[in-house]
This record gives sequence, structure tokens and C-alpha cells, in this order.
Amino acid sequence: MTKEDADQLLREKGQEHILKFYDELEDEQKSALLQQIADLDFSLLDAIRDSKEAKRGVIEPLGAVEIPEIEERKEEFTEEGLKAIREGKLAAVLLAGGMGTRLGFDKPKGSFIIGETMELSIFECLFHNLMEVTDMAGVLIPIYVMTSEKNHEDTVLFFEEENYFGYDPAYVHFFTQDMAPAVDYDGKLLLEEKGRLATSPNGNGGWFSSLYKAGLVEDLHSRGVEFLNIFAVDNVLQRIADPAFLGAVILSGKDGGSKVVRKVSPDERVGVLCSEDGHPSIVEYYEMTEDMRTLKDEKGELVYRFGVILNYLFRLESLEEIMAKHLSVHVVEKKIPYIDDEGTPVKPEEPNGYKFETLILDMIHMMDSNLPYEVVREKEFAPVKNLHGVDSVDSARDLLRANGVKL
Ligand code: UTP
Repeated sequence: MTKEDADQLLREKGQEHILKFYDELEDEQKSALLQQIADLDFSLLDAIRDSKEAKRGVIEPLGAVEIPEIEERKEEFTEEGLKAIREGKLAAVLLAGGMGTRLGFDKPKGSFIIGETMELSIFECLFHNLMEVTDMAGVLIPIYVMTSEKNHEDTVLFFEEENYFGYDPAYVHFFTQDMAPAVDYDGKLLLEEKGRLATSPNGNGGWFSSLYKAGLVEDLHSRGVEFLNIFAVDNVLQRIADPAFLGAVILSGKDGGSKVVRKVSPDERVGVLCSEDGHPSIVEYYEMTEDMRTLKDEKGELVYRFGVILNYLFRLESLEEIMAKHLSVHVVEKKIPYIDDEGTPVKPEEPNGYKFETLILDMIHMMDSNLPYEVVREKEFAPVKNLHGVDSVDSARDLLRANGVKL
């Protein structure tokens, strides 16, 4: 794209301010900025208007396989899952492209040391959990690690320095997710430097298209993979490639499954899994009506009682079927560092604009079916979002200790 093309496009879009410092840039910076403009998906900006108009469909409860049933059928589920794992049908996808802003740690979240007396990182915890299964199955499971432009190098370096936490590097693949621009409250694109638009990873919904772009879906096929277990980097008690979960999903014949925990209170801030217009769907805590939050069944239990913990199984075939469909774009208010009109860097203390994200929960809704699979919260859910308080390093350490992990 030439400077003239960029000028014209930006004028049409009301974004000409982003070339304000263009003449001060080195040649290399000029072409990098023009490339960023050429790659920009301006339709994302429409999401600011669209998200205000978005309406939900008819919401109903979605039956889960609950702990008593899982206990009863544990052996059957586990055997079915282990068989599939031994046949090479399962791969894992670690979502590690997030910025982890709430933690306030400027390295990849997975490299955060959760150990107190030992150098135990979050990544290492996760690999220990995965290796419990691979040891039991007697085979290795390929794992695909999604990073972002912002943390890719640091992540790969950390894996190398830590010897892949004892896992075989031939079974670990990295891929990078796409970035999305950020805007102020008037919808104006922000610059993070004179020659660079402010961008951030485009949310955790972009993982399958990024995996595809990286040529890794072909790799999955060549290995005979049929199921993917997607999980978040920041739950240190995450059970990865859980054979019983996989077995339950296979036996259910559904497109996939979601690990869920019983909500501790109607107001707990987790998304709940339900049915929306006949499809599985996740309603975020801030979207729930008072009725939905508090409604009880005849046993006195919350009707919408199962919260998701970002651990899902998908059939590869079902993912490929929905790939051509468009994922909704969510508009999220965030603190976005930028440079002001004078070119001075500003690090806001309060949210100052919007970022655009696609979310994995929308992929669930695109599927025909999904199996909510209940797990014991204290054994499988220790999210690290903040340093202290709820869902923090402190609470995760307590839970790790309670599960016998040496810190
Ligand atoms: P969160 O939604 O908690 O976001 O991510 P975050 O970026 O890690 O943390 P905050 O909100 O800035 O504090 C849930 C999971 O999704 C991944 C994260 O790495 C984490 O595993 N994620 C999130 C991505 O892989 N890419 C993204 O663009 C966003």
C-alpha cells in the first residue's frame, strides 16, 4: 500500500489521524505502518455498534453429566478415553496468547513462578498434569501452544530453557494468533508508537483459524487426530487430556464437551452453560438476568448451576464444519497504552477505549451439541487471574497445596 492509498482509505474511514507522525518516521517504520493499515480489518470497528444491538435467543437449561453419574461410570469412561488416546485420536491446545493484564506480569503468564520454595512455573504445573495422563496411557499426546505476537519469543525461549518441562519437544508445536486494533471511546484507532497502531491479541476464539493458517490442521489429520482438548493457561489445576472426560464425550456422540463446576452462589462471576435456541450456549455472568441467576428447580438447586472453566473438547470434524462461519466480535473496555496528539506515551489507570475479541464460547454455540461434564471444583479449578484476592496467585497456591503439590 502506498502513502496515497493509505491517506485515501483512512479519510474514508475517518481515521486519518494515524498518519500524523508519518513524516517523522524512518523508511522501515513507514512501510511497517502502511502494512499494518493494509492488514486492518475495518469491519471490526462496526462491532461497537453491533454489540449494543445484540440480542439473545431463548435460553433453557442444558442437562449435564454430573459427579454421581461420572463416579458410577468412571471405569467405562476412562477406558473409552484411554483407548482413543492410545490410538492417537486426541491432541491438546494450550491457549497462551492472552496478555494477563490483571496479573500485572509482563512476561508470558505461563512463565510465572507459582512455586514458593522452588522454581515451579504455571507451564510446568500444566505439563506435570498432562504427563500424568501420558504416563498412564503409555503414549505422548501432541500439544499445540497458541501464543501472540507479544509473547511468542519469550514463550518459546522459556520452553527451551526449561527443557520443555520434560516433555518430548517433537510433540510440542507453537502457533501465533492474530492481533486486532484498539480504539478510543469515539472509535478512533490508537497509536502505541508514532509508527505503530495499538494492537492486542484478538481473543481466545481465534485459535482454530490461527491453527489452520499455520498449517497445523493438516498436521492433525496426518496424525489421525479426531478430538482436541482446548484449555486455558491460567488454571494450574487443569486436568489436560482427561481420559474420563474424553470417554464420556465419545460415548455421548456429541460434537464436544465442556468441563463445568457447580456455582458456589447465584452471583458467582462465571459464564453458565445452557441451551439457546436449541444450541449449546454460554451466557456470561454479566448477561444473566436476576431470574436466571436465582431460579431454582424442585430439588432447590440453581437451574443454571454449571459454570465453565475453559476446558473444552471439540471433534475436529465439527470444528471444520463451522470454520467458514463468522464468529461474533466482542467489544471489551480496557486500559490501552497509547501516544497522545503530541506523541507523548500515556499509560492509563482506568479503561480508556475498546479492544475487539472473538471468544471460544461462541464456537460452542455454533455446534449442534455439547456435553457439560461436572468436575470437583477444589480438584480442578484454580485460576490465576490476579496477584491477590479472588482467583489469584494466593488462592491458586492454597488449592495446589490442598491437592498435594509441593510449592
Ligand atoms: P483471559 O480472558 O483471562 O485473558 O484469558 P488474559 O489476557 O489471560 O488476562 P487479562 O484479562 O488480560 O487479565 C483466558 C485464556 O484465554 C487465553 C489466555 O491466555 C488464557 O489462557 N487468551 C486470551 C488467548 O490465548 N488469547 C487472547 O487473545 C485472549
